[in-house]
Amino acid sequence: MRVLGINGSPRVGGNTDILLDRVLEGARSNGADIEKVALNKMKFSACQECDNMPDTSACIINDDMQVIYKKIKECDALVFASPIFFGSLSAQSKAMIDRFQCVWRARYILRKDAGYKKIPGFFISVEGSMRKDFFENAKSIVKNLFTTINAQYKGELFCSGIDERASILKRQDCLQKAFDLGAKLIKKGKGKYMGNIFSAGEIVEMGIEIEKNGRDFYNAVTALSNTPAIKEVFKYLAGEEEKHIKVFENILSEIKKYEPSEAYPGEYFAYLKALSEEHVFTKKRKGLDIAKKVKNDKEAIELGIGFEKDSILFYYEMKKVVLEGEHKAIGALIEQEQEHLRKLSELKRR
Ligand SMILES: Cc1cc2nc3c(=O)[nH]c(=O)nc-3n(C[C@H](O)[C@H](O)[C@H](O)COP(=O)(O)O)c2cc1C
Repeated sequence: MRVLGINGSPRVGGNTDILLDRVLEGARSNGADIEKVALNKMKFSACQECDNMPDTSACIINDDMQVIYKKIKECDALVFASPIFFGSLSAQSKAMIDRFQCVWRARYILRKDAGYKKIPGFFISVEGSMRKDFFENAKSIVKNLFTTINAQYKGELFCSGIDERASILKRQDCLQKAFDLGAKLIKKGKGKYMGNIFSAGEIVEMGIEIEKNGRDFYNAVTALSNTPAIKEVFKYLAGEEEKHIKVFENILSEIKKYEPSEAYPGEYFAYLKALSEEHVFTKKRKGLDIAKKVKNDKEAIELGIGFEKDSILFYYEMKKVVLEGEHKAIGALIEQEQEHLRKLSELKRR
């Protein structure tokens, strides 16, 4: 597996360069072939908005960008690195990105395959200040590039408060995270991309879907039941699931703020995928669909029991992938789902 690192900083041996090296070292430690290019050492012009563009994905300017196009097409993972300059990417980075207009045109105007295979893409960046919005700004541009070249934005590392040349060497936390990010790219010993990654955010989003479906299901079966005691429990459960939606939304916003760049191995992904596929409530608007087919209270209770069991199992896995600060909230949520299960099986026994 080939991992390509692109350094958009003019400073060779500077902070971005050092951080990128650390990511690449991590990847190499697990068997990747690594390569790094420094944009500042390459000779290429900014995009000229040529009127005579060919109807292909190729750029007609014959300069070092041709080398970059080829290297990106051939790599299996891309790590793009740029310092923050004036709240955005460096000029070198932006000049390179603009030169992908030919690829953008091929994909979105000509609707042609531009010859870029699907790869994971990572973005790393440093800044002198402590401003999160600068990284967000730079990230939106990098995401734009990644979409154009068929790279999936799979992770990032942002380090703030780093200004002097090579001062990142004093930041062991950043260096370690960079190494880990690189190492996690590769399946140890096999030199293969771990692929098929669920981000922690995606898993929490599934949790939100589960809870929304649960709420809809319990609301619908509350209306269907004629037994006050059963109605009361269903209504209570619908309210509980509503609260859980809020808990997950908070967790999701924290994840988005801190963006853990965790990656999970293929087998673990397969397990999570199976869990999510088996849990009917991960699919949109499933709660109401299922409730519509319910014939009686007994059936509604049975379905609720199955739903609570699946949720508990899924949330146990979720706990492993979210930030440590969120473990308590998910732990509490699991306990509440266990309580729901208890209430439902009590109803079943009546
Ligand atoms: C032209 C220029 C513009 C910069 N603009 C910003 C900025 O807007 N915000 C910020 O936090 N740091 C800014 N910095 C500081 C750099 O992001 C910081 O020094 C970084 O560590 C440089 O990384 P490097 O050593 O890889 O080049 C700027 C530096 C330069 C040279």
